Amino acid sequence: MNVLVIGSGGREHALCWALAKSPVIGRLYCTPGNGGIASVATCIDLDFKDIDRVLALIRAEKIDFVVIGPEAPLVFGLADKLVEKGVKVFGPSAAAAQLEGSKGFTKDLCARHGIPTAAYGRFHDREAALAYLKEQGVPIVIKADGLAAGKGVVIAMTMDEAVEAVEDCFGGRFGSAGSEIVIEEFLEGEEASFFAIADGRHVVALGSAQDHKRVFDGDQGPNTGGMGAVAPSPLMTPAMVDEVMERIIRPTVAAMAAEGHPFKGVLYAGLMLTYKGPQLIEYNVRFGDPECQVLLMRMKTDLLPVLTASADGVLDKLDIDWDPRPAVTVVMATKGYPGDLQPGGEIRGLDKAGAIEDVVVFHAATRAEGDHFVPTGGRVLNVTALGETIEKARETAYRAVAEIDWPGGFNRTDIALKAIAAAG
Ligand code: AMP
Ligand code: GLY
Repeated sequence: MNVLVIGSGGREHALCWALAKSPVIGRLYCTPGNGGIASVATCIDLDFKDIDRVLALIRAEKIDFVVIGPEAPLVFGLADKLVEKGVKVFGPSAAAAQLEGSKGFTKDLCARHGIPTAAYGRFHDREAALAYLKEQGVPIVIKADGLAAGKGVVIAMTMDEAVEAVEDCFGGRFGSAGSEIVIEEFLEGEEASFFAIADGRHVVALGSAQDHKRVFDGDQGPNTGGMGAVAPSPLMTPAMVDEVMERIIRPTVAAMAAEGHPFKGVLYAGLMLTYKGPQLIEYNVRFGDPECQVLLMRMKTDLLPVLTASADGVLDKLDIDWDPRPAVTVVMATKGYPGDLQPGGEIRGLDKAGAIEDVVVFHAATRAEGDHFVPTGGRVLNVTALGETIEKARETAYRAVAEIDWPGGFNRTDIALKAIAAAG
């Protein structure tokens, strides 16, 4: 089977790495891909919005299956446009991708179907939003409705902060993503991410992970796309996984089907584990990045039939086998990230790092140049390791980080420590 992966990050490198191992893979393409992905797939520079060129590539290269990595092409409707032309696709329709694309859509769906989530209001105008704030008091959470690259959420501890957040959103700070806002109850608890794969009707758990969103050690500094991850999260005990599947994931898949937009693809639930039980903070409609890297390190079953089973609606026929060992990934980023990037210089030593047993170095943004790589973005490498325990996986990952010679890069040094403390 010939496969095309859409995307260019560490997540897409992990997807291509896993797909390349499949006994049934034919030719593997990635667009646009990156310097690391090029070692397992043919990278083609293409804009996913240029549907005619994407379709021309699919025809010319006899591609049987398209796997969409990031949210932007999903919310854009790339899956619908390809399915319309008879192409088999992994990833949700634009209607189903509203679970990520519109926070208000998801909140209303949860309310109609009794899925546990923070109490909320949706607002199109400033006056009504301010009145609701006054009525609810602080702490409170203000969110731009649409996609705002993870930056559209303000946790307001004071009324001044809350009012400022509302003014900012309606003042156009997030463009059209902020023309509608959701104001919701502040939830207290521990956060965990949970992943499942759905085929429109059936859903299978993929497991949990814990991200590290802040840029510096000790959860300091601004939010990023994620500076490291560990899987599984020790907070997600088997009993908690069952509860999340029964109360949140299965009801969501059933609700989406009942309302006419069956969900196919990865459901990524951001959860708050509160004293009242797990509550949904938000959905994403794709693998997390870098959570995908740690999930796929642990997947023993061939990924390709898992993804095609989602597209074909036959996930009920499938069992997924997992490596019992936990995985840890450490993100190496260009100095300056998530702000203005400094010149990145040269990256060396990747072969030595990758030669360590149970280590894979995924590339998130690199280009090959002669005998070395150069960074082409903020998050650049995902140094990923398996270990008998989270401690061992963490040690191995950092041993590999130490082999990488990249003066222009930096990484957190405390990835997985929280999970180790939680595991006791
Ligand atoms: P989101 O973009 O919705 O994932 O929100 C970003 C982050 O804000 C989450 O990962 C949580 O840490 C926090 N957050 C979002 N909603 C709430 C809430 N209702 N209560 C407490 N924290 C929240
Ligand atoms: N690591 C967070 C995300 O993929 O959204």
